[in-house]
Amino acid sequence: MNIENRTAVVTGASSGLGYEFSKKLVNKGATVYGLARSEDKLQKIQDELGDAFIPVVQDVSNHDDIEKWVSDTFGENLTPDILINNAGIGLFGPVDELPREDWEAMINTNVNGVFYLTRQLVPHMKKSSSHSHIINIASVAGLLGNPNISGYNASKFAVRGFSEALFKELRYDKIKVTCMYPGSTATDFFEKAGADTHPNMMRGHDVADTLVHILETPDNFLINEIMLRPLNPKNPNEES
Ligand SMILES: NC(=O)c1ccc[n+]([C@@H]2O[C@H](COP(=O)([O-])OP(=O)(O)OC[C@H]3O[C@@H](n4cnc5c(N)ncnc54)[C@H](OP(=O)(O)O)[C@@H]3O)[C@@H](O)[C@H]2O)c1
Repeated sequence: MNIENRTAVVTGASSGLGYEFSKKLVNKGATVYGLARSEDKLQKIQDELGDAFIPVVQDVSNHDDIEKWVSDTFGENLTPDILINNAGIGLFGPVDELPREDWEAMINTNVNGVFYLTRQLVPHMKKSSSHSHIINIASVAGLLGNPNISGYNASKFAVRGFSEALFKELRYDKIKVTCMYPGSTATDFFEKAGADTHPNMMRGHDVADTLVHILETPDNFLINEIMLRPLNPKNPNEES
């Protein structure tokens, strides 16, 4: 796909990976609808990136609001070409101490949010004469379970299953589906999760370069899954 003049929807655009994805896409000539809940952060990003970044204050876990925004925005005159389902939260803890509200918040945002926006945008993509691309941002935690992140694991394994099914379902509609599994990346994610970081995290702009590469592949070429890792997260030969 040639990204220039395409229309993209990026969720979780107010910080971290979503901000980096939006920036790369705008620099490639796309118009980006950036969704998140923090109006002030989205506004600052528009101040930086210009009018090609359109702030959209939306909670992806609110089905009715998402449905209304999609029907108000897209139609005969405007088709979404790219959907980056990136909004996500991590709330960690032993299963017997993980509050039910935290479990539900992760499922509502990381899983239901992906479904709500996808099901609303796919009909528009199916009608498009050109190729479209949906990229779901899972995590290495969508492939490997680990202690104290059971709820996050469950949500990201769900994104994997959803993505695999969609890839097979939508390929004959000229819609590519990719599931991306990043490892630890330097964003606000770990601070919000109250989890430890390490000095060798990946950089968001490098993850965004990979996303652009996946989008720019030829029409009959699909990278449907990709795992990204820091080379040296915690060197056992170095004192901590
Ligand atoms: N950082 C990592 O190491 C890492 C590794 C693997 C996968 N991931 C995944 O990458 C994605 C992006 O995370 P990040 O690292 O960039 O973290 P981040 O900086 O905390 O960004 C998360 C984004 O999601 C948005 N968001 C959260 N809940 C939302 C909701 N209900 N509706 C709309 N937007 C919502 C946040 O904006 P508002 O708060 O303004 O709504 C923010 O823009 C997540 O899905 C995360 O699971 C991250």
